[in-house]
Amino acid sequence: MPLAFRNRCGHFILICLGVLLLLLPGYAYEELSDESLKALPRPNEEFDIHNGALLSPILQTRIPGTPGHDAVLQHLVNYIRTTLPKWEIDLQNSTSQTPVSNGEDVPFVNVIAYRDPPGASVGDVERLTLVAHYDSKLTPEGFIGAIDSAAPCAMIMHAMRSIDIALDKKWADMQARGMDPSFEEERGIQVLFLDGEEAFDHWTDDDSLYGARSLAETWDQEMNPAMSTFKTKLSSISLFVLLDLLGSKSPSIMSFYQTTHWAYQNMGALEQRLRSLGQFKSSSSDPWFIDTSKDSRQVVAMGGIQDDHIPFLARGVDVLHIIDFAPFKGFPPVWHTMDDDAEHLDMDTVEDWTVLVTAFAAEWMELEGFIGEAENAKARRDAELEAEAIRLNKKTEL
Ligand SMILES: *[C@@H]1O[C@H](CO)[C@@H](O)[C@H](O)[C@H]1NC(C)=O
Ligand SMILES: [Zn+2]
Repeated sequence: MPLAFRNRCGHFILICLGVLLLLLPGYAYEELSDESLKALPRPNEEFDIHNGALLSPILQTRIPGTPGHDAVLQHLVNYIRTTLPKWEIDLQNSTSQTPVSNGEDVPFVNVIAYRDPPGASVGDVERLTLVAHYDSKLTPEGFIGAIDSAAPCAMIMHAMRSIDIALDKKWADMQARGMDPSFEEERGIQVLFLDGEEAFDHWTDDDSLYGARSLAETWDQEMNPAMSTFKTKLSSISLFVLLDLLGSKSPSIMSFYQTTHWAYQNMGALEQRLRSLGQFKSSSSDPWFIDTSKDSRQVVAMGGIQDDHIPFLARGVDVLHIIDFAPFKGFPPVWHTMDDDAEHLDMDTVEDWTVLVTAFAAEWMELEGFIGEAENAKARRDAELEAEAIRLNKKTEL
């Protein structure tokens, strides 16, 4: 705050501005403070690849229609039911034949979980939507898919808990101040663990994205209650953030869509801030978000990469595709090989991704002051300001 504002009148203007901002329905994207970035909850032993509670149960073959798949599905659902009791959970089922199913139907189960502000009507909430696929590829036999996408699922699981705790604090704080979160805040958060992303034979429009195609089609047709702000569940998605092929060292993330380049830049800015604050464990000579300094008009309209976002993108959903890919470099070397296993994960990078995704979601949900230990930091700042004000007052009295 410039010193010139540090008088009663300045404070008054700032308070008026604050009230105005609160009254405006669309909010500015609010940056997290350095204190909050330093206090973000980190994964610990729960990411242990051998017996960690979050990641290790996903590190097994999970081909749709097999017991490994059911076990991972159960793990995801159990986690949400026990750790995130305030989240709604839906399973969206479909069946499809595949090129190798000999005319048999294979079941696909998408896991949908969301949390809205208390008292909010379903159709009036827009949701930041974090997405990863939890199925694994049929071939090569025994393929684990650690970056594809066991690790992204675990990153999201960890982020959703940190966000959940902060939302509790934020919405309780609003209520304590006589505000109604259902009215003041029309934003919630949603997670999609999608099924059947991988092709069974060779990638075609029909042999891939089984879960995503089914869900996008269903949600396009399912209407929210009449008079809702958002007509369909698809239009309730404020941003579809898809994580895929993450967990190898020194990733390169491109910006694929002009319309969401600003969100890409926000994540790129967070990457740089976390790194300069010493909050990244992995070292990298190059930034991960390689297009951050580009103008949105410079974002190449290459059509993007085939992945779970495509059926949503085709129906007008805003997409941020976070996938390790760059021209000349391609996908990570372990991609679709037996080397994409637990041992080849770069755990520092996995952890850094978790912190970055949490930070991005926290900014989107405006959780400054509520995420991590930040409320303690805020209390400390307030106390310092008060002490300073007392000092200044004494000086003028003398
Ligand atoms: C969807 O499939 C799951 C797992 O197979 C099952 O438990 C659930 O009851 C099904 N849901 C519906 C609505 O059919
Ligand atoms: Zn894959």
